[in-house]
Amino acid sequence: MQITDLISDIRSQFPALARIINGYPAAFFDGPGGTQVPQVVIDAVSDYYSRCNANHGGVFATSVESDAILDEAHRAVTDFLGVDDPDTVMFGANMTSLTFAFSRALSRTWRRGDEVIVSRLDHDANYTPWVMAAQDAGATVRHIDLHREDCTLDLDTFREALSERTKLVAVGCASNAVGIINPVKEICRLSHEVGALTFLDAVHYAPHALIDVDDFGCDFLACSAYKFFGPHVGILWGKRDQLESLPAYKVRPAPNSLPGKWMTGTQNHEGIAGTLAAVDYLSGLGRTLSGNSNLTRREALALSMNAIQQYESDLIWKLIDALQNIPSVRIFGITDSTRTAERLPTVSITHAKLSPESLAVQLGAKGIFVWHGNFYAQPLTEALGLEPDGMVRIGLAHYNTTMEVGRLIETLQKLD
Ligand SMILES: Cc1ncc(COP(=O)(O)O)c(C=O)c1O
Repeated sequence: MQITDLISDIRSQFPALARIINGYPAAFFDGPGGTQVPQVVIDAVSDYYSRCNANHGGVFATSVESDAILDEAHRAVTDFLGVDDPDTVMFGANMTSLTFAFSRALSRTWRRGDEVIVSRLDHDANYTPWVMAAQDAGATVRHIDLHREDCTLDLDTFREALSERTKLVAVGCASNAVGIINPVKEICRLSHEVGALTFLDAVHYAPHALIDVDDFGCDFLACSAYKFFGPHVGILWGKRDQLESLPAYKVRPAPNSLPGKWMTGTQNHEGIAGTLAAVDYLSGLGRTLSGNSNLTRREALALSMNAIQQYESDLIWKLIDALQNIPSVRIFGITDSTRTAERLPTVSITHAKLSPESLAVQLGAKGIFVWHGNFYAQPLTEALGLEPDGMVRIGLAHYNTTMEVGRLIETLQKLD
């Protein structure tokens, strides 16, 4: 079975998709800013509050039950990331806060003369924390530049920047602004050749394709559950030896063992319960698609994420092909369908007659939700000379349909 065969069933699981705006069915193309959630996630959050709302580590029933849910969430996320040690998965407020805290800790190991590499394609959350940490440590920041014509990373500038002095390379798995998939496997391999550590931002990648930490070969990886159909919870994974040896900023009574060493303060337990449900929604989808209820969670996730990637890829090329025939629209990023392996279903455009904000307002009035601005991918919009207005971002998710894409195109054609 494929996603197309299940699309009505999938959509019926997301209550928000039934919303009507100004008489139009809502079309959610705002996923890169946060996806909608299925009923099972809503139920898991609500069930946590109604049944076992308690702090961590108590010996009474609700605390024990709450801890069991948290433990299962750690296991679910190990399956989601393709790792096998639940203690190496940390939860936190969001990716940005986790990255700020972690970059502080990592930079305590840096000295003057050390170097850090960041990319101009990244969300600022995988850019500024490293730039500021480098400044504080007296380390130098180097950049991976862009090919402006298709917004892909210029790997020559990466190779030029990389040296024995490089301590860390921070790069995104995919661009939240233009959907480019970065060659992270190659970047991690080259970084390790000179002894540098690698930190990957998988926030935009997570809802669209299978994360495989082993295959990527990274040392650290961050993502956010609210971008993959879960609640507002951040996730950080790291290699055990690194997490154990690095000095964390933590309060004294907090454990020195993993994962508590890196999970400061009381967590968003209800959100973590919802994160577990989001991973189980995706693995459930894999089992339904295969008709095999005996698949392990990781096997089922591999199946569903590959099916999602295929479905979204078909949809995004329908969209890009149609956008290319609208004279007022300019597309940023890859527009050649033979390069489908290099892109996710997120496309950004500008319009010759309307500012990004006006275009988003016009589409919003017809129930079509898109983001405008720089989406915090500021190094990119600066490099493209698109500040301060930015672009309009159309982000597809597996709950979007061909009909919705058709409506968007029709509306844009009328505005041309
Ligand atoms: C690619 C990417 N990285 C990082 C972030 C920041 O994530 P969070 O909101 O969890 O801090 C976002 C959020 O939009 C993003 O799209």
